[in-house]
Amino acid sequence: MAALYFCSDDNNGNMLRAMQQAMPNLDIRVWPNTGNKLEIDCAIVWMPPDDFFDGLDNLAHVYSVSAGVDHLLLHPGLRHDIPLIRLFDAGMGDKMANYVLYGALHAQRCMPELTLAQQARNWQRTAIPDPASVPIGILGAGALGQKVASHLSLNGFPINQWSRSAKQTIGSHFIGDEQLPAFLAASQILVCLLPLTANTTGILNEKLFTGLPDGAYVINPGRGQHLVVDDLLKALDSGKLKGAMLDVFETEPLPEDSPLWHHERIVITPHIAAASTTTESAEQVAQSMKDVVNGTEPRGLVDRQRGY
Ligand code: NAP
Ligand code: GLV
Repeated sequence: MAALYFCSDDNNGNMLRAMQQAMPNLDIRVWPNTGNKLEIDCAIVWMPPDDFFDGLDNLAHVYSVSAGVDHLLLHPGLRHDIPLIRLFDAGMGDKMANYVLYGALHAQRCMPELTLAQQARNWQRTAIPDPASVPIGILGAGALGQKVASHLSLNGFPINQWSRSAKQTIGSHFIGDEQLPAFLAASQILVCLLPLTANTTGILNEKLFTGLPDGAYVINPGRGQHLVVDDLLKALDSGKLKGAMLDVFETEPLPEDSPLWHHERIVITPHIAAASTTTESAEQVAQSMKDVVNGTEPRGLVDRQRGY
């Protein structure tokens, strides 16, 4: 029994060391040094290359060192019958909550307008609305959406959350496509914390922006493919939206010639909203492996039908 490891962001080896510490008896091999591929029965990965799974004929489980698993569901080399297990929060919730709070304050404190005024050397004393009058809508009420909601609420923002199924949330809760228009109309700042699935691809589009109040602000730390870039640019240029903060992009790194880089109302961050914490990630992977051995369903087991 051996695990094959590849995490694209683990340049300093901290995640690998955490995994080795959490699972001292596991033979963890670091791709491309696979040894005998037939001995490998599980993989621990983030963004593995296209040929990563080639020849892993005895692979039984894949542990994703991430919340989103779209990179694995769409991976050209991964068989569709292999169970996928993802991270659940693992330190990302608190970081995501701060990222979104930063974006929400940027919008509520009128920074898009004030940044333009500064560039024009214009002493533009703008009336700053109270957070209580700036409702925030969160698309997604999962591990991260709920953490973000509670942090924003503690900072005085009214909260709306939207998800597929009914659940207890902070603030107002909206369910499914039928309640999406009411959710949008009530959200001055919109945050996307959905997984990327067939149903959510391109959800941040012209129709959705039209449903938001005029001058709304969009924060997308979900996935780049949630956003239709041309529709965002049109909505910003028409004044329908007053700004956007984007952490994720269809192609990463964001290509140099992307019009997003230069837009004066867009804040860009390079997919750094919320990295998982190494120790928590490793402990979760170790726990999930134990669950698998004991025949218990691991908490982060992905429902391939749902796509998350
Ligand atoms: P999660 O726990 O799976 O939660 C997903 C939420 O989205 C759930 O509330 C789910 O509804 C809802 N949802 C899914 N499909 C829907 C649909 N078609 N209509 C309405 N609601 C839908 O995921 P998470 O751990 O919170 O992570 C969310 C995403 O954040 C990840 O998939 C990833 O793309 C992104 N992320 C980004 C970063 C970053 O650094 N930028 C870091 C971590 C994660 P139900 O509750 O009804 O199932
Ligand atoms: C990061 O984007 C994740 O999905 O964990």
